[in-house]
Amino acid sequence: MNEYKWWQNTAVYQIYPKSFNDTTGSGTGDLHGITEKLDYLKELGVGAVWLTPVYPSPMVDNGYDISDYTGINPAFGSMRQMEELIAGAKERGIRIIMDLVYNHSSDQHPWFLKSRSSRTNEKSDWYIWRDPKEDGSAPTNWRGIFGGSAWTYCPERGQYYLHTFAEAQPDLNWENPEVRAALYRAANFWLDKGVGGFRIDAITYIKKPAVFTDGTPDAADGMVSVHTMTVNTPGILDFLHEFRREVFDGHDIFTVGEANGVSPAELSDWVGENGVFSMLFEFAHVLVPYESGETWCNMRPWKLTKLKAALSASQAGVAREGWCPIYFENHDRARSVNYFLPEDADPVLGAKALATVLLTLRGTPFIYEGEELGMTNVAWDSISDYDDISSHGQYELARAEGYSPTEALSFVHFNSRDNARTPMQWNGSAHAGFTTGTPWLPVNENYPVVNAAAEEKDADSVLAYYKKLIRLRTEHPLLLRGKYEELLKDNEQIYAFARTEGNRRTVTAVNFTTEQAPLPAELLRGTRLIGNYADARLYALRPLEAIVYEEEIG
Ligand code: GLC
Repeated sequence: MNEYKWWQNTAVYQIYPKSFNDTTGSGTGDLHGITEKLDYLKELGVGAVWLTPVYPSPMVDNGYDISDYTGINPAFGSMRQMEELIAGAKERGIRIIMDLVYNHSSDQHPWFLKSRSSRTNEKSDWYIWRDPKEDGSAPTNWRGIFGGSAWTYCPERGQYYLHTFAEAQPDLNWENPEVRAALYRAANFWLDKGVGGFRIDAITYIKKPAVFTDGTPDAADGMVSVHTMTVNTPGILDFLHEFRREVFDGHDIFTVGEANGVSPAELSDWVGENGVFSMLFEFAHVLVPYESGETWCNMRPWKLTKLKAALSASQAGVAREGWCPIYFENHDRARSVNYFLPEDADPVLGAKALATVLLTLRGTPFIYEGEELGMTNVAWDSISDYDDISSHGQYELARAEGYSPTEALSFVHFNSRDNARTPMQWNGSAHAGFTTGTPWLPVNENYPVVNAAAEEKDADSVLAYYKKLIRLRTEHPLLLRGKYEELLKDNEQIYAFARTEGNRRTVTAVNFTTEQAPLPAELLRGTRLIGNYADARLYALRPLEAIVYEEEIG
């Protein structure tokens, strides 16, 4: 009896192609470089690989600004190499997942070049155009997610266009059926190529309110985040049901929507039989360090109970119906060891501690490149060293809020998306074996120690621990099917939870602090399945200790 789908019973690996493996010496990773590493991925034990965008793009936002939805960026290779990658992956039981960026295109997409040329061309309403206010200023006081106004003026039309993200990423007008049909056609093109599913970018922004109004300013710049004004606008699900019917239905694929702004209580509308996607990336657990929204200078000290509550809420949201992805890292987040653990945390123990949670919660684990090696953040000297567009926007915002350059830079150090985008660390040779040229972003200085080759030889490495955990999941169907229950809810040091099926259960207990944490008697019983210390002490968890026990109950 197995009513579970392949994508529920596998781990997914996310690749940021620009930073993964360069086979041409250009300093930028490429598709052939991914094909070259398929055996590494097979050995790790993952069943799917999500590629962030590899389409033609001016790369203002590293590929999230697409100028052709059915092509391949020549910097990454050719369509033929893409086909080789899909085929090579398939031979190894790995499916390729494409990233669909459908809220916006690049401002260099032929659709936009046409649309901006006049008010009367055949693509004139493929994007969101509005007249200026009477004084000529932007139609509303909305701030784009990367900072600055969400509107840019276009002299040819005498109008402004809306961009939820950067100026180079104009929002598509989903109200126009021709736009939707063009987007569905592109997704079907990739299904015909044999991809195993889609990650759908920034999907909660595609529907805009019927009337655009100014919002109450939320910062010193007098603006309000476009997120507040447009996220999850009623009617959005009608578009998405159509998307499901026109593209996803009838294929053995999975879909995962990036859904900033959907609460756990709303999950059943979005995932499962009556929903639109297989899974949703929620944000609550990664946003625990923020007061509100995601303004980097609005960070606050947070407590473990807040993180645990967020994770438990999403487990509860899909307990009966639907399914969820489990993630701590992706290309938009800092490295998890630095983000979720105390500053003095040992990075190896810490990476294993987080991995233990990632791989034993109920859901599909998503591992981000380098996370399986325990890669960590960088801290560069000047804001000009940073490539990430949002780091620059957030730095400016912090300065406008009155923070000194040093303070503003410290927010960037902690949060920058470049933390996750430094080149993959393959070995101890120059540039970590990522390229023979000059890497587009500097390699993290810890590469002589933190790298795949060294960790492959070390039975105690983070990589070895990931492999063990992934194997453990396949050997213990309980970790796929078992019901989730949080234990020790009020404990500020330990995250503990049980997974139960029939008369068996596992208990995962992880100490998130660098101090010893007393364990209530009898929490751990039965057999120890895995842990990041060599042995176990049943009365306490040592700093960052993680442990999983299995026992028979009743
Ligand atoms: C998503 C992507 C991010 C990108 C943004 C705009 O949040 O994950 O990398 O910058 O959308 O497309």
